[in-house]
Amino acid sequence: MFVDHLQATNFRSFEQIACSFSRNVNVIVGKNGAGKTNFLEALYFSLQGNGFRTRQDLHLLNYGASFLRTEVDIFTHGADKTVAISWEKNGKKKITVNGMENQRIVDLFGTCYVVLMTPSTPELVKGGPEYRRKFIDRIHAKENPPYLSILNRYALTYKSRNCLLKKGLRESQDRKLYDTLTHTLLHVSTVIQKERQKTIEKMQNVFISVCDRLQFPILQEIRIVYSPSQLDVNRKLLEEQEIARGTSLIGAHLDRISMKRNTKSLRIYGSEGEQKIVSFVLKLCEFHFLEQETKNVPVVLLDDFQSELDADNFQTLFEFIRPKAQLFLTSLQPSCVKDSGRLLEVRDGSVYGEN
Ligand SMILES: Nc1ncnc2c1ncn2[C@@H]1O[C@H](COP(=O)(O)OP(=O)(O)OP(=O)(O)O)[C@@H](O)[C@H]1O
Ligand SMILES: [Mg+2]
Repeated sequence: MFVDHLQATNFRSFEQIACSFSRNVNVIVGKNGAGKTNFLEALYFSLQGNGFRTRQDLHLLNYGASFLRTEVDIFTHGADKTVAISWEKNGKKKITVNGMENQRIVDLFGTCYVVLMTPSTPELVKGGPEYRRKFIDRIHAKENPPYLSILNRYALTYKSRNCLLKKGLRESQDRKLYDTLTHTLLHVSTVIQKERQKTIEKMQNVFISVCDRLQFPILQEIRIVYSPSQLDVNRKLLEEQEIARGTSLIGAHLDRISMKRNTKSLRIYGSEGEQKIVSFVLKLCEFHFLEQETKNVPVVLLDDFQSELDADNFQTLFEFIRPKAQLFLTSLQPSCVKDSGRLLEVRDGSVYGEN
């Protein structure tokens, strides 16, 4: 897919953005604090309906403004589309696609394909298992949008169950509710574990073929290892322990996904450089996986990408995606890539474009 034009009002530090893009490389330059990441986030929001540095829309609203709006013209699944998103303070987000109202985030998942790499990307390997679970779940939701509602159902059940456990099972109806929530949690966990297993198997194949093509020595023998949590446990004992601890001790939120070399976890034994490269390689896998599964080439957003890697690794990873994807990257220097298609400069709260 391609993004041809972005318009935004009151998004973070920008009162207005109006920009056209190259279908190849777009470089966004500016000094520290100029608004480069804000610009990339505006683009991400306009395609996915959320910011990538916050879960709250209020943080995205220009200080003092009462509403924000974004509109993008895109080319996806062989057709031109316009996606508009608006949000008023304390109101509900409104999403329209080609003028059709009442679209949901899940509809954007099946329309717009974006792969994002930021300075937090290395958390994918360095961080706890929740980062890798979220990574795999999001990829699967992009390939299969109804999976989002399964994840939402899980999150709601987990939250209600924890509230109940915190409060304590004092009355007989509490125990009934506990049993119902346990049943739902286990049922949804089984579905999630099946989906994770399938997605990780497919990702594993993509990972092996990307590693073969990149030929980085440090990628040798590295694999994605999935260890689903145990769902078949002694229920009586579980109940006692959960009541004592006041939290859910069973379910798919305890699944482990690790990056391992032989049996050693990269999170624990890997060097900083290895953790960074493997996490960016996982993002390349996301790109190839989505391309393969959705028959649509995702747009790639790179925030401060080259500051995370040495010059050779940056070039290798960059050239790997460049021939296929439309790229947007932020940088302090305009010369960060050779033959950049379009240069956009962020200065004094505005974006200025040159060819
Ligand atoms: N909702 C908002 N309204 C107005 N300004 C905001 C809002 N959110 C963030 N800002 C401001 O936007 C400015 C630019 O932030 P941004 O992260 O985009 O800079 P940057 O160009 O990426 O800088 P760096 O090179 O340091 O990464 C910051 O000074 C921040 O205070
Ligand atoms: Mg930045």
